[in-house]
Amino acid sequence: MKLFVDTGRVEEVRKAAEWGILDGVTTNPSLIAQAGRGFKETVLEICSILPHGSISAEVVGTTVEDILREGREIASWSPNIVVKVPMTPAGIAATRQLTREGIRVNMTLVFSPTQALLAAKAGATYISVFVGRVDDVSSEGMRTIEDAVQLVANYGFDSEVLVASIRHPMHVVEAARLGAHIATMPFKVFEQLFQHPLTDIGLKRFLDDWNKAGLRIFE
Ligand code: E4P
Repeated sequence: MKLFVDTGRVEEVRKAAEWGILDGVTTNPSLIAQAGRGFKETVLEICSILPHGSISAEVVGTTVEDILREGREIASWSPNIVVKVPMTPAGIAATRQLTREGIRVNMTLVFSPTQALLAAKAGATYISVFVGRVDDVSSEGMRTIEDAVQLVANYGFDSEVLVASIRHPMHVVEAARLGAHIATMPFKVFEQLFQHPLTDIGLKRFLDDWNKAGLRIFE
């Protein structure tokens, strides 16, 4: 399972990259706006921090023509960029064309199995299914993950199901149980994946015992 961080903040990408297990970064127009820097400079800095990772950067056009123009431009910035395109009829048509040109697409704002099916048929590299926003309105976001994983497997689509809009570690656990290919999460949730109080207590006890006994590794 690939783990991505969902952020426009370069310092968060830098910290997560230090762990050595970060496979990619997803951004969206809101995250870029919150980070308070220019779009291209932010995306390029993220690409340089994670040169072998997958970096998703989103178009803001809504017509086929605009999505194609912006998608080609964004993809030209770096080979590790995946262009994020919204799940609309125009987005689907543009995705078909961009993928024909060899540009990888992350189809975003997917909330239903039918939308996931269309994204897979259009050749999207990633299908970003949002779970938290569905949970927020008292429905089960993970149901669509289950369906999307199954339909991709049933027909052997090349697309990977990317679990987006993650709010807490159990979303990551559930995504892994369902066989989702990728989970993208806020930096804070990524940090939470490490945490367990028994690890902290256990480590403290080991070190206290070792130090009390006056032991050393290097003599
Ligand atoms: C996906 O790539 C989106 O950027 C993101 O996961 C949206 O999450 P949110 O619902 O917390 O805004």
